[in-house]
Amino acid sequence: MKASTRALTSTLLLTASLALLAGRTGAQGLPALPQGAGLEVVQSRCLSCHGDDLIQGQRLTTTGWTREVEKMVRWGARVTDAEKAPLVAYLAAHFGVRPSAAPVTASGATVASASSATAAAGEAVFTRSCLSCHGRDLTEGQRLTTTGWTREVEKMMRWGAKVDEADKAALVAWLAATYPVR
Ligand code: HEC
Ligand code: HEC
Repeated sequence: MKASTRALTSTLLLTASLALLAGRTGAQGLPALPQGAGLEVVQSRCLSCHGDDLIQGQRLTTTGWTREVEKMVRWGARVTDAEKAPLVAYLAAHFGVRPSAAPVTASGATVASASSATAAAGEAVFTRSCLSCHGRDLTEGQRLTTTGWTREVEKMMRWGAKVDEADKAALVAWLAATYPVR
């Protein structure tokens, strides 16, 4: 009895550390996911491959979250048709794009403190390298940390965006200043 309790405890601890590992950069300092209808769907369907940090690091519109959930389903997440609506509603309610986080104000404040030359260079890279496959809307719909934007740019590079190392730093600085997590 005692031994099996101990075995169970270590299994739980192992599971918890794997979940933390899966969360990688996240976990530290992030609050628990907020309560609400849809939370159970997130817990049962969305946390098997990665931590909630990837979810908490995004700010998307309802359309954006619908697209994101559909992408995760293509990548293997098992979400039933009945679960999809409450899931998207939950994500958009808690990790939505807030009108007060207007990019103009945000970049005005943040870009001023960064080198404006770097910021201008970053915007030029964006115009040159990021608009050949899709419009600005996919980028404007996101609010990410510097780590999040680095990850996103690296993903786009894997998918074919042509950005060299020097351009990458300027681009990430501009994206993080213009579309930051508030
Ligand atoms: C089958 C594995 C799997 C499941 C289940 C899964 N994801 Fe993902 N998710 C991934 C992978 C792989 C990435 C890319 C990670 C990276 O870029 O480092 C990712 C990345 C993300 C990102 C970051 C943005 C992006 O698109 O790269 C968000 C947000 C996200 N997932 C949300 C969700 C939500 C919401 C669910 C539940 C519907 C979910 N994930 C379930 C595999 C999964
Ligand atoms: C070679 C084509 C290509 C280029 C170039 C490209 N992207 Fe993408 N991007 C995609 C595709 C494909 C998607 C997925 C669209 C979808 O899910 O509907 C995407 C989606 C996105 C998203 C939405 C979140 C996500 O990961 O699905 C963001 C933000 C984004 N791109 C930013 C960028 C930035 C910044 C650049 C410049 C570094 C860039 N893209 C260049 C192909 C590209």
